Amino acid sequence: MTTISTQSVPVIAIDGPTASGKGTVAQRVAEALGFHYLDSGALYRLVGLASFKAGVSTDSEPDLIPIAEKLNVIFQGDRVFLADEDVTDVIRQEAMGKRASEVAVHPGVRAALVARQQAFRQAPGLVADGRDMASVIFQDAITKVFLTASVEARAERRYKQLIAKGFSANMSILLQDLRDRDARDANRSTSPLKAVEGAHHLDTTSMTIEEAVNQVLAWYKAS
Ligand code: C5P
Repeated sequence: MTTISTQSVPVIAIDGPTASGKGTVAQRVAEALGFHYLDSGALYRLVGLASFKAGVSTDSEPDLIPIAEKLNVIFQGDRVFLADEDVTDVIRQEAMGKRASEVAVHPGVRAALVARQQAFRQAPGLVADGRDMASVIFQDAITKVFLTASVEARAERRYKQLIAKGFSANMSILLQDLRDRDARDANRSTSPLKAVEGAHHLDTTSMTIEEAVNQVLAWYKAS
């Protein structure tokens, strides 16, 4: 029997700040290529949710680590299940995004999620989105993209998403929350959000999703 090394499976790493549209772009690129897709932010959101349910504070790294290690999660199509409960919509709420960025500052929590993320690397390929896909989890990614948009454009996109899903939203609170999260993600000591050397920069402020997807596909094909 021949085993194919997972190292030979191509990875496209798409990193960037919250609400930059990288999730949608990454999913569409994965669909276009028939690749698997990893939404690494969902794992941090799940730790945020599971710790909330367990009554554990986001400050308490020793209590968060076993929660991250034992996360009973199943990704099924576009649904996410935590211990048999469909939590797809709950983890998308702003409160869970905030908790996610609070648990994500702890090195022990990040370490507990590494193998789980790398296990998504399956043939024929993977598109992974997050903050540290290119810098830590898939350092040998064949294509590395740093996807950004202005904070105002991101707040407006998030506002529209929330309203479309029937949630209430307030633009000035959203803007402040995005700025706080950007600062927390960029300034933490472990795996801060930053573009790695050799990453392609993609500012999507005035781009359509389709244009962004086509640009990433073009970089991948040229790599
Ligand atoms: O991408 P998303 O907004 O779902 O991520 C939620 C939070 O999880 C981020 O604000 C960030 O703090 C954290 N995160 C991370 N590393 C990743 C993905 C997400 O620290 N690879």
